[in-house]
Amino acid sequence: MSASLSPELILTFVGAGNMAEALVHGIIRAKLLPSQCLRVTDTDRRRLDHFQATFGVAGFECNVDGVRGAQIVVLAVKPSVMAEVAPEIGVALAPGALVISIAAGISTRRLEQRLPKGTRIVRVMPNMPALAGAGVSVYCLGSRATEDDVRLVESLFQSVGVVVRLDEKHLDAVTALSGSGPAYVFFLAEFMMQAGCEMGLDHATAKMLTLGTIRGATRLLEETGQAPEELRRRVTSKGGTTAAAFEVLEVGRVRETFIKAIRAAQKRSRELSG
Ligand SMILES: NC(=O)c1ccc[n+]([C@@H]2O[C@H](COP(=O)([O-])OP(=O)(O)OC[C@H]3O[C@@H](n4cnc5c(N)ncnc54)[C@H](OP(=O)(O)O)[C@@H]3O)[C@@H](O)[C@H]2O)c1
Repeated sequence: MSASLSPELILTFVGAGNMAEALVHGIIRAKLLPSQCLRVTDTDRRRLDHFQATFGVAGFECNVDGVRGAQIVVLAVKPSVMAEVAPEIGVALAPGALVISIAAGISTRRLEQRLPKGTRIVRVMPNMPALAGAGVSVYCLGSRATEDDVRLVESLFQSVGVVVRLDEKHLDAVTALSGSGPAYVFFLAEFMMQAGCEMGLDHATAKMLTLGTIRGATRLLEETGQAPEELRRRVTSKGGTTAAAFEVLEVGRVRETFIKAIRAAQKRSRELSG
């Protein structure tokens, strides 16, 4: 779904960082809203100039000025500044405005406590491939969000990838899996390339082979619908090269370590949620 939204709307991003940029790009590309309906706020004037020059989106150094009159406000600052930003914008929120928070680890309950009584809140956990229009975003609803809010949030985040609705109790797992997940794949790419170079390939060739392999394997998973373990079995013949690699991975308990790492990210997300 990417029906355009009412051109009367004003949508303000508080925090003009990477995620705000991905979303502004997606919204304009999908023609959901024209640039005149979008605003960004940031403490860094250079970021505002960048949004003006790249997208024709107006920038505000003062959050209150940027939020005044907006029907939708996306909180896109780091979680550490949310405690200061939420009450700050609260005073300028239009009655009936929807607040969408993409900050990791901040629950809808905590936001509801920090924003004016009755504010409708939707919490979304996007991920970094949104920058390439290939993100995965999971959202959950605050206690007052409506089905109209659902449609709006789905339209906005579908402009940068796929969107899934889940109960908030799953958001720490989501943060650990898809929020932090791109970094796990970057790590895999990093050491595959390192191994390629150590075996004598030049950097460009190692990179091309690594990225092509990750892309191809992902596409095969999607197109065949087969389980990863089944596809892995098909690549691994007894006594062959892949089997030799997996013997080392098993001795190194890589599966257990990886799962432990993802559970550590989930635990950290819970701690941040407070
Ligand atoms: N990046 C990801 O992969 C990812 C994935 C899922 C969720 N998220 C969430 O998305 C949010 C934004 O992440 P991001 O990667 O876009 O961060 P970012 O690039 O650091 O963007 C945040 C922007 O907000 C600015 N800022 C700081 N204090 C401010 C204030 N008081 N008022 C207005 N703007 C302020 C920052 O300026 P300075 O740099 O000068 O401080 C920065 O330009 C975070 O809450 C994060 O948890 C990110």
